[in-house]
Amino acid sequence: MGRVLVQTESRMPDKPEFELTDQDFKFIQWFMHKHAGIYFSDRKRTLVYGRISRQLRRLRLKRFAEYRTLIEQDSEERICFINCLTTNKTQFFREYHHFDFMEKVLISEWAQQGKRNIRIWSAGCSTGEEPYSFIASLHTANALEQFDSIEITATDLDTRVLEVAEQGIYDEEALKAIPIKYLKPCFVKGIGRHSGKIKVRLGLQKMIQFQRLNLLENWSFEQRFDVISCRNVMIYFDKKTQQELITRFHQQLSPNGVLFIGHSESMPADFDGFHHLGHTIYVKK
Ligand SMILES: C[S@@+](CC[C@H](N)C(=O)[O-])C[C@H]1O[C@@H](n2cnc3c(N)ncnc32)[C@H](O)[C@@H]1O
Repeated sequence: MGRVLVQTESRMPDKPEFELTDQDFKFIQWFMHKHAGIYFSDRKRTLVYGRISRQLRRLRLKRFAEYRTLIEQDSEERICFINCLTTNKTQFFREYHHFDFMEKVLISEWAQQGKRNIRIWSAGCSTGEEPYSFIASLHTANALEQFDSIEITATDLDTRVLEVAEQGIYDEEALKAIPIKYLKPCFVKGIGRHSGKIKVRLGLQKMIQFQRLNLLENWSFEQRFDVISCRNVMIYFDKKTQQELITRFHQQLSPNGVLFIGHSESMPADFDGFHHLGHTIYVKK
């Protein structure tokens, strides 16, 4: 038997329901960093314990070591394990300045540049609120009629959140985050057994392609994007992974393409491939 739970800075339960040894925790740190780019410091041990507990309970296991064997053998279980350790917090129109910038600046610039097809990538889209906010923003600003096509590709590593995203159905609570001008044109309220829910209008929903993609692996996009939005994702990665990702995003953008990152994320100081327009908006040089 390995050593039983060691308490780090945060509080672990006094009588842990499951065994998670130091060695187990080190394995989790290594595994998540290697496979998802996500780094859990020692301080995150309680959080990790809480999240994997649900999996162990589901499988009626008592020790993480048993779960580790499963993860190593079964690719489905590996996905469940990664899913349970990702942080998926999101909301509609989060960090509104990006949507405002698209409506007030980007759409007219695209028209002036004579662009006919617009391609947007929401990388790390979680449950879909981000890509749906992009399409709602473009629709409300009458951009859908101005271009021959607008395609939004929305990707995430976590298969659970992608299932929610594909449905496009949310609790009415989500309405609180949606500015009023987008409500009627872009969302419908559920009735009958769907009361208490809202749904993205079908025509808009169909414009988004959801797919599983691990940002650390190869991307097989045939074309470049006019906008890449990777917000509140890189914050979980270490510096080296962030730098590599920024370089790859730069390559994946069309000339004058725009990168949006999250408010607590930053561009590596020595990377000079972008003009910074302020407010975490970067334009490819
Ligand atoms: C906090 S959410 C951000 C959602 C949205 N972009 C926003 O700002 O509201 C982070 C998302 O990144 C995803 N993620 C984490 N590591 C990833 C990886 N290696 N590849 C792709 N997605 C990843 C998680 O599954 C999660 O859904």
